[in-house]
Amino acid sequence: MSGTPIPALTVRAPAKINLHLGVGAPRPDGFHPLTTVYQAIGIYDDLQVGPGPGWEVQVRTASYLDRRHLPEPGHNIVDRAALLLAEHHGRDVTGLLIVDKEIPIAGGMAGGSADAAATLVGLDRLWGLGTSDQDLLRLAAALGSDVPFALLGGTALGTGRGEVVTPVVDHATWWWVVVPSAEGLSTPAVYRHFDELRPDADPEPPAAGDLLAALATGDPRRLAGALHNDLQAPAVDLRPDLGDLIATGEAAGALRGLVSGSGPTCVFLCESGNHAREVAGSLAQERAVVLVANGPVAGAHVVEPG
Ligand code: C5P
Repeated sequence: MSGTPIPALTVRAPAKINLHLGVGAPRPDGFHPLTTVYQAIGIYDDLQVGPGPGWEVQVRTASYLDRRHLPEPGHNIVDRAALLLAEHHGRDVTGLLIVDKEIPIAGGMAGGSADAAATLVGLDRLWGLGTSDQDLLRLAAALGSDVPFALLGGTALGTGRGEVVTPVVDHATWWWVVVPSAEGLSTPAVYRHFDELRPDADPEPPAAGDLLAALATGDPRRLAGALHNDLQAPAVDLRPDLGDLIATGEAAGALRGLVSGSGPTCVFLCESGNHAREVAGSLAQERAVVLVANGPVAGAHVVEPG
């Protein structure tokens, strides 16, 4: 590393999964109307944010992540988030950001969105802006459909193209086994394939009533029966190995396996932490990377103040 200053504060942002992802026919702007239930789970990207004379972003990745899927320097959503916040306040973009990535890249877990949300929170603090929550959510929505949820965290209902978020009461702790894929999958490609497979899709996305009722029981077996992802069929059609992985995880005892968002990461709901570790141990016999995480957890927040 160069003689750059020590970053001053650390912001942590979680990965998301979709417990319900109902997708409607595309809108005139090309986006798909969604009714989704997000949950933030305990896999995190950490952002260290410090002052600097210019603008510098360094990205470090967990050993199991493939750096080939990272965006080109200068074209990271982190750069766009910094520029948008600076423009909003009429100031220059300065600082040093060190991104420590743990969330699968191009994995359907909104890792880029987590980084964008953490950037908004971190630079708002570093630059002493005091941006209102409402403005932060608005800037987040301009950066991507999942970014407002990355700010909010917990469990939340998402509507619009996913950017309109409302917290959902969720007092349980849910245990997940998370299996990333070595190869990424493009979100736009999966949505395009949804359009090919479902030319008759209703403009109104499937509602989340069953999922919300199951969530309220706190019973993982009930939740397992209500998990729903309209992007699973197109993702599995593009990547049949995901269907095999889901079958393997369920054969290993998971209550239910599901493609996470647009994939290719797959998540497996388990009864408890111990059960999740058992299922993970079994899947680890044939998969290089198997993670265990629980949710819901907090959205982007400062963990080490400057
Ligand atoms: O909003 P975001 O930048 O995350 O979206 C990435 C891409 O995913 C969009 O360009 C679009 O192709 C697709 N998408 C969609 N409908 C949504 C969200 C995303 O078609 N509700």
